[in-house]
Amino acid sequence: MRMKVLLASSEVYPFSKTGGLADMVGALAQALAKAGQDVRVVTPLYQGIKKKYPDLRKVDWKFNLPMELNWIHAELWELNLARGLKVYFVDHPDFFDRAGIYQEASVSYADNAERFIFFAKCVVHLARYLPWRPDVVHVHDWQTALVPALILQQRSEGWGNPPPTCLTIHNLAYQGVFPAEAFALTNLPETYFTTESCEFFGLLNCLKGGIAHADFITTVSPRYAREITTEEFGCGLDGMLRERESKLIGILNGVDYAEWNTTQNPHLFKPYSASRLAGKKVNKLELQKLVGLPVTDAVPLFGTISRLAEQKGIDIQLGALAEMLNTKMQFVVLGSGAPEYERGYRDLARQFPGKVAVRFGYDEALAHQIEAGCDFFLMPSRFEPCGLNQLYSLRYGTIPIVRATGGLDDSVLDWTQNAKAATGIKFSEYTSRSLAKAIRKALVLFNQPKLLRVCQINAMKMDFSWEQTVEHYLEVYRKRVEPS
Ligand code: ADP
Ligand code: GLC
Repeated sequence: MRMKVLLASSEVYPFSKTGGLADMVGALAQALAKAGQDVRVVTPLYQGIKKKYPDLRKVDWKFNLPMELNWIHAELWELNLARGLKVYFVDHPDFFDRAGIYQEASVSYADNAERFIFFAKCVVHLARYLPWRPDVVHVHDWQTALVPALILQQRSEGWGNPPPTCLTIHNLAYQGVFPAEAFALTNLPETYFTTESCEFFGLLNCLKGGIAHADFITTVSPRYAREITTEEFGCGLDGMLRERESKLIGILNGVDYAEWNTTQNPHLFKPYSASRLAGKKVNKLELQKLVGLPVTDAVPLFGTISRLAEQKGIDIQLGALAEMLNTKMQFVVLGSGAPEYERGYRDLARQFPGKVAVRFGYDEALAHQIEAGCDFFLMPSRFEPCGLNQLYSLRYGTIPIVRATGGLDDSVLDWTQNAKAATGIKFSEYTSRSLAKAIRKALVLFNQPKLLRVCQINAMKMDFSWEQTVEHYLEVYRKRVEPS
């Protein structure tokens, strides 16, 4: 059966992105369309999108939706992509025409509750009133997590047969928690402001509302699905997740190999593949030149591309590098986020001149160049729902060094797990010392070119393509659309 799927997200690649959420939703939409499904996406019209996509067309449709006692007005734009895929953009200049998506200069916008509650209401309005009736509404993270509750409420207000909802949790650490007063903006009855619903210790918790009311809950790796039902990883919501465990499933993200590949990639200095690995060396030497490191293939080059946030294990990385950079190695980082972590990397660069290159800000091309040019990729996350960069590293033949958590554990195979099929290096304990030990293993591997090559080839052959992943989502949608 061809399904009509409405995806809603606050970020969608290539229109907007702060992290993997955008990559995932953009790729899922494409993959569903490729699999023959009828897919539409809805997302905010952020600054610059109209200019970058001149084919955007205004839709003859206006939102006028209640927010507490006010009526808020917005407009709608659409863009038609290949395979019938349509993207809707909600246009409200005050809310969305800003320099950032959620924040500026590391400070969250004060009206984020209003911005995204309004966006969630627009999603529900589209789902209800578009002539195209979705069979399922699939929402992502806290920004759209109120959609299931809003739909449920509209059912009791006369929406005959509303579509089932699926919530994907990309990161349980971000829940959209706001002061209790923000609940009024939802215009939901007080019965939704209870501990079984959106209330969390007297505050409004958008993600909790989604967990309580979505028909299905998915998260982005099987291990993370198990982890979040424990107190250690549950961020206060483990109890509710345990209650809804029969509706919770972990599906590992796929990779958009049309974007992230080494053979046809405009960002790379030279194409390469598992059977023609020589080109990888050219990428390494060019990357070293680009970021100002001594140009040599004889020294192993480690890299990181990351949001600089606590989740990503930056503290243990700085500790491990301070110890290991005394040996023969180089390190390059591309990141943006917490100023204290930027300072940490800058200090490291000062301490080890000629060994460390730092680049702060957001740079898509450099992200590809680092993935291609490095020998090893460091991802020592404290927790990681899925993680995409280790998946990109695998395809780029850049050996990932990861902490065994969440999607990192599900996607990388260590020597001790399977010596013949190993694709990377894993460590468990969340300490600088453990990571330093893993880096030491990488240095040993670097000095055994034959073994390194086996590992690289194993890595490059791993297949995380969306064709497989999308089937799992379809199974979830079908369960609800066609009750057995
Ligand atoms: P998360 O979503 O938790 O940040 P993921 O590994 O799932 O982590 O996805 C991160 C995505 O963001 C990847 O596509 C990565 O290349 C990209 N990214 C992160 N920081 C930067 C940056 N400073 N410049 C360019 N791309 C970045
Ligand atoms: C979140 C998670 C990351 C995941 C991404 C896409 O940002 O932190 O682990 O890969 O979402 O699902």
